[in-house]
Amino acid sequence: MSTRSPVRVLIHGASGRMGRALLRLAAERDDLAVVAAVSARGDALPEAGAVPVLPAARLSDAPAFDVVVDFSLPEAFDPLLATCLARGAALVSGTTGLSAGQFAALDAAAARIPALWAPNFSVGVAVLTELVRQASAALPGWDADVVEAHHIHKKDAPSGTALQLGAAVEAGRGRAPHYASLRAGDIVGEHTVQLAGAGERLELVHRATNRDIFARGALEAARRLAGRGSGRVGFGALLLGGAAR
Ligand SMILES: NC(=O)c1ccc[n+]([C@@H]2O[C@H](COP(=O)([O-])OP(=O)(O)OC[C@H]3O[C@@H](n4cnc5c(N)ncnc54)[C@H](OP(=O)(O)O)[C@@H]3O)[C@@H](O)[C@H]2O)c1
Repeated sequence: MSTRSPVRVLIHGASGRMGRALLRLAAERDDLAVVAAVSARGDALPEAGAVPVLPAARLSDAPAFDVVVDFSLPEAFDPLLATCLARGAALVSGTTGLSAGQFAALDAAAARIPALWAPNFSVGVAVLTELVRQASAALPGWDADVVEAHHIHKKDAPSGTALQLGAAVEAGRGRAPHYASLRAGDIVGEHTVQLAGAGERLELVHRATNRDIFARGALEAARRLAGRGSGRVGFGALLLGGAAR
């Protein structure tokens, strides 16, 4: 049992697939205390238990919090970032499909608050990203493709994780890969980086079978980010001690 006060967390996007997993898993930790759950409509949520649920329009009424864990939609991002700045709270966001302008605003905000955005909070993908960079650097003349598959409700394509892996390919060999996206059934998330040369092919694959891995990673990131100084940090850097965003 921890002797420190629990980190006060606001879950943003609480009624979603990820938000409900975050509420359930946060309740199992004694180093985190969820103080509010926010969704677009603010409908009652069984997973929230005694935690107050607020509609996004009443975000400013939330009780004091140290860190937000956000898995929502890009249109929710700007008011959320403004609230974090106003409260001096840290932000952990896994929301994908953010615009270049929103990333620029996140970088600017990181001058004043701790901030972490990651397209994938699985430890396996953090390691895969580094392997992809190494393989691409070793095989600079080969064709490179990033193929991703997700459930039919996913709105953005290619996935944020595919773009992170593509950036690793580009960092390794100096050229971006091709992308392909599949949307089918209830696939949690699959990513393949294929490097193809004449007469041989290398495939690096990650398959997520349960979205709890992302929720666990994001909650651990929230605990580590709260209380840090301002600045933007990546998930790999925070957890694995690497340097990548
Ligand atoms: N980084 C990672 O590891 C990772 C892993 C999985 C998913 N994701 C990303 O996380 C995001 C959420 O995924 P999901 O599958 O949980 O989505 P989802 O099931 O569609 O849930 C979306 C959530 O956002 C809320 N929301 C929508 N508009 C909002 C607004 N304007 N203000 C506040 N909240 C708003 C919704 O509230 P209502 O229910 O009231 O509409 C709901 O709670 C997506 O961008 C997805 O790509 C990232």
